[in-house]
Amino acid sequence: MSDKKRIFSGVQPSGIITLGNYLGAIKNWTQLQDEYDCIYCIVDLHTLTVRQDPKELRQRSLSLAAIFLACGLDPAKNIIFLQSHVSAHAELTWILNCYTYFGELSRMTQFKDKSQKHPDNVNVGLFDYPVLMAADILLYQTDLVPVGLDQKQHLEITRDIAIRFNNIYGNVFKVPEVYIPKVGAKIMSLQDPTSKMSKSDENENNYISLLDPPDVIMRKFRRAVTDSETVIRYDEENKPGISNLMNIYSSLTGKSFEEIESEFAGKNYGEFKAAVGETTVEALKPIQEKYYFLMQNKDYLQEILKQGAENASRIANRTLAKVYHKVGLLPRL
Ligand code: TYM
Repeated sequence: MSDKKRIFSGVQPSGIITLGNYLGAIKNWTQLQDEYDCIYCIVDLHTLTVRQDPKELRQRSLSLAAIFLACGLDPAKNIIFLQSHVSAHAELTWILNCYTYFGELSRMTQFKDKSQKHPDNVNVGLFDYPVLMAADILLYQTDLVPVGLDQKQHLEITRDIAIRFNNIYGNVFKVPEVYIPKVGAKIMSLQDPTSKMSKSDENENNYISLLDPPDVIMRKFRRAVTDSETVIRYDEENKPGISNLMNIYSSLTGKSFEEIESEFAGKNYGEFKAAVGETTVEALKPIQEKYYFLMQNKDYLQEILKQGAENASRIANRTLAKVYHKVGLLPRL
């Protein structure tokens, strides 16, 4: 790799990617790929923290690789790989576990949310999720991590762990910066605009999947929850539904909220929803076409993941060897 700064980010193959994942993360990745050396990971180990159907998980992992490419990530410029193919992720997690405190992990809001959602399966992996995420990032001496707003707290703990480790052993890890987009960082559920749009949501009407056909996209937007006013105006607190639609529209078109307000002055919610729907359909059309084309060539996808894992391993193993040495593990001869 060159002397460009390095990016690392990841997505869980826990469902088909949503418009939230795209606008909060992947769309920005494609814009950063020339300026940075980028490593993008399908974090399948993280996904195991919630029960999965094994066959479906395998399919979703491959499908996510196709989506990455379909969204515009160039495999010649970016390393794209599966987390479980690079064993250093699990190995560094163990070491970092010994430098992370029970108290700080207990404060993670995502852990609290997911424990509430799956009270019958509050497993240790779920609790340890942020440490695996820290290992992902720190293995690659990452400069920048482009994510949506919901991952901010996980980035903070990653930085804390890196700084703590460096304070004991010298400069082992680069302390990464977080990159959160100004618009689109938190796309909300269409039926409940006070909670985040999520690919693992049970109610399909809550999210737009990147693979939803045009009529489904139009229908879901038509049904999106709004408010009893008739004015299209940005006000997250009192008009979360309309504000969410404005966020989506702004993120896709590049128009500011003021521009959107004047574009739709005097128009009704139905007209605005139709415009957001049409814009989304148009934005997703080329992605969907490319996705279905790529999914016909699974060997090609597997080859990209194989190459990606080899390239990622080379970088990750250098950091892991350094860490093992620093903490006092005897090298294997
Ligand atoms: P995941 O799979 O939940 O989401 C992938 C990316 O999409 C962003 N995102 C959103 N952005 C805007 N609005 C939304 N409604 C929305 N939902 C999700 C997320 O912030 C994320 O950037 N823990 C991570 C995966 C991960 C990771 C990493 C990320 C594992 N290791 C290392 C960065 C670096 C996650 O669950 O993402």
